[in-house]
Amino acid sequence: MKQLGMNELRSKFLNFFAKDKGHTLLKSFPLIPVDDDSLLLINAGMAPLKKYFTGEKKMKNNRATSSQKCVRTADIERVGKTERHGTFFEMLGNFSFGDYFKEEAISWAYEFLTSELEISKDLLWVTVYKDDDEAYNIWKDKIGIDPERILRQGKEDNFWEIEMGPCGPCSEIFVDRGEARAVDENDTKPGNDDSDRFMEVWNLVFTQFNKEKDKNYTPLAHPNIDTGMGLERIAMVLQEKDNIFEVDVMAAIIDEIEKVSGKKYKKDKKSDVSIRVIADHTKAMTFLVGDGVIPSNEKRGYVLRRLIRRAYRHGKLLGIEGEFLSKIVDKVIDSYKVEYQELEDNREKIKEIIIEEEDRFQKTIDQGLLMLEEKIEAIKAKGESILDGKEAFRLYDTYGFPLDLTKEILEENNLSVDEEAFDKEMEIQKQTARDARKKEAGWSLDNLNTEGIAKTDFLGYDNLVVEGKVLRLYQNNDQVDSISEDQGENGIVISDKTSFYAEGGGEVADTGYIYNENFKARVIDVQKQKDIYFHYVEVIEGKLAINDGASFEVDKDRRYAIERNHSATHLLDQALKDVLGSQVGQAGSLVDENKLRFDFTHNKALTSEELSQIEQIVNRQIAKRDVVTKEIMDYKDSQEAGAIGLFEDKYKDKVRVVSMGDYSKELCGGCHVNNTSDILMFKIKSESSVSAGVRRIEAITGTKVYELLLEDENKLASIARQLNTNQNNIENRIDNLKAEIESQKQEINRLKATSSQDIVGELKEAIKEINGVNVLVKKFDKASMDELRDYENRIKSKVDNLIIVFASVDDKIVFTVSVDDKLTDRYDAGKIVRTVAQITGGNGGGRKNFAQAGGKDISKLDEALDKVYEII
Ligand code: ALA
Repeated sequence: MKQLGMNELRSKFLNFFAKDKGHTLLKSFPLIPVDDDSLLLINAGMAPLKKYFTGEKKMKNNRATSSQKCVRTADIERVGKTERHGTFFEMLGNFSFGDYFKEEAISWAYEFLTSELEISKDLLWVTVYKDDDEAYNIWKDKIGIDPERILRQGKEDNFWEIEMGPCGPCSEIFVDRGEARAVDENDTKPGNDDSDRFMEVWNLVFTQFNKEKDKNYTPLAHPNIDTGMGLERIAMVLQEKDNIFEVDVMAAIIDEIEKVSGKKYKKDKKSDVSIRVIADHTKAMTFLVGDGVIPSNEKRGYVLRRLIRRAYRHGKLLGIEGEFLSKIVDKVIDSYKVEYQELEDNREKIKEIIIEEEDRFQKTIDQGLLMLEEKIEAIKAKGESILDGKEAFRLYDTYGFPLDLTKEILEENNLSVDEEAFDKEMEIQKQTARDARKKEAGWSLDNLNTEGIAKTDFLGYDNLVVEGKVLRLYQNNDQVDSISEDQGENGIVISDKTSFYAEGGGEVADTGYIYNENFKARVIDVQKQKDIYFHYVEVIEGKLAINDGASFEVDKDRRYAIERNHSATHLLDQALKDVLGSQVGQAGSLVDENKLRFDFTHNKALTSEELSQIEQIVNRQIAKRDVVTKEIMDYKDSQEAGAIGLFEDKYKDKVRVVSMGDYSKELCGGCHVNNTSDILMFKIKSESSVSAGVRRIEAITGTKVYELLLEDENKLASIARQLNTNQNNIENRIDNLKAEIESQKQEINRLKATSSQDIVGELKEAIKEINGVNVLVKKFDKASMDELRDYENRIKSKVDNLIIVFASVDDKIVFTVSVDDKLTDRYDAGKIVRTVAQITGGNGGGRKNFAQAGGKDISKLDEALDKVYEII
């Protein structure tokens, strides 16, 4: 067997199929499924490719290969407890969309394993679906596998299927890892799921059916191939490791956990569970957050939350204090950045989100654990074994404990939870939330049955009024025959044609009216699912029934404003590349009637010069009056023409290209002006940071710029009024005010000088002559040290043979004593200040000619100052 690291293994596989066998190399799709509600997270290489299997979408090349990021959480509770379960893994796969079939799929899998990975043929076992003679014979006759090592199995084992989508009989390949790994004496051939000896490494699915929503199988137009090989698993076999946690890439992650926790892996069974949980879950959370999942209480956000919280608690079990996962995340990113540059690009953001979630949980976990411990004691004391579902729900709702975390802790105490009661509590809470939402915002598309409705014909690029026929109506989540003002004001209308753009591609939905002579409704939102357009309406008057004809009229002014902003976004995208470099990529955008918002990858704030340069370029392109064209073309042609596009466009056959003269060319399905000059004008309003490495520009166009001008003009007028002048004279007026302030400052300084002049006179008057020495003793209210020193210097320059004692009173007293140098053989400033200060309960000291001290008791101050004359 060839010794290969995981990263090398991945490249070897992809090269084999891409270079040697003519497959298109696909980059892993993000973990969040696009346009597929049947799935929370991508869980197999084929999942993002379903539409290519069904023929709904086409690629130029009908062969593809990928290493796909996958998350499977069905067994999340077993992760850590066993050495083989994980939630995140990569699936190596090769796919045929009606191209090659069983013979090539089997031969190439065999070739890769035996020639590229040098696994001995004698170690291979295979299974086939019981009636699949074709696959059986290929393995036996063409490949030459010993028939004793080809097993026929039933539907549970050899028919691969998911909730919904392409499926079919399959053939699995196992590697015999040697008798020494057998779990018992019966472990002599594949079939035992717990076997450590026979490891399933590759699943070849002969995809011939589509499993529908109603669980029926419909034959696909053409047979396909879908294969899947777990990268971690095959690495483990090649590296001859006992489990997936010991393969090269994972070892670095385990090392870091050992470092952070001070616990060694493989020393103690309990710690091992925690170390494995942290290793696996951190890997999964890193990729999930990297693909844009945010912790929440819903759907995939909740999968992520559970992973983070469970990992965090296992950190606590290992004795780790506070947040620590970001350190492990760093190691995950280091290990995977070779293939997944996006992790490196988003490193800081990923860590930030995970730390936030840890912090959030940290606030409640201790209280929750305490409550749970009390409950556990109480249950045990009563001799019972089940935690009430209501209590588990309280832990969830108040302390943020996911149910599986509660279950895990209970299990550690040989207890369990009443899950049914928990679910009931959850359902009550959800229903309450649903009711509230329904009241607030209508309802969601998820519950609507759209079977049998044809795709809506969208004519709205060129027509803002379209005559359509009503195909389906909904009200309060129910399909209805008609909607009318008596039945409530909200409804959904589906028609054969429309002029309304449905929200998508960063552009908001159109609004407007649907009407005929008996009916009028305001369209407040338009959503699209599988090319069916849902018009959300508020009925104004009359009644609309199925099969009625109606006018669908878009709010023209609003649409034009949206088009201006959308077209300006394309110019901005290109201008950013011109000024900052072609590496600047789009990270998101939002276009509505008021503004455009464009997020792009760039790692520092833009300077004001860059911003004004960008603004100028866009305005120059507007002034050029370039015609804006929209064409449908092959993806390949669009790329040859240099069009910019997003990742998801890549695998489309036909794309829409929007061009503005020679300046901008982008793949886009949105609404645009016909000529750049229609944009009228472009003004950047702000530039800011969205997250690490992503900046945001917000800008306005058209009449909004005029409105801004008016606003600024009003501000200017108001400023002029406050300055008691007219607008043209504002700058003069400000100059005059500045000069006025300057002269007032000088006046203040002059006054200060004369007032200190006065003080010298005042001080002189306070001097008493004792024993031929001039003694000045004076009290001040809240004078600063600087002021005291200043007065001292002034009087010293005027009077000889002087001893000065100052006291400044705030809530405490500060004394300073200064003795003329000519007198220091007879008087010591340090001694004087100490004697005086001590009378008020303070102390201090210093040199012979100057000393200072602090005093406390203000009531003793006069007594203390009188003492000066006595001393002299
Ligand atoms: N889609 C198949 C699997 O996940 C290859 O096993």
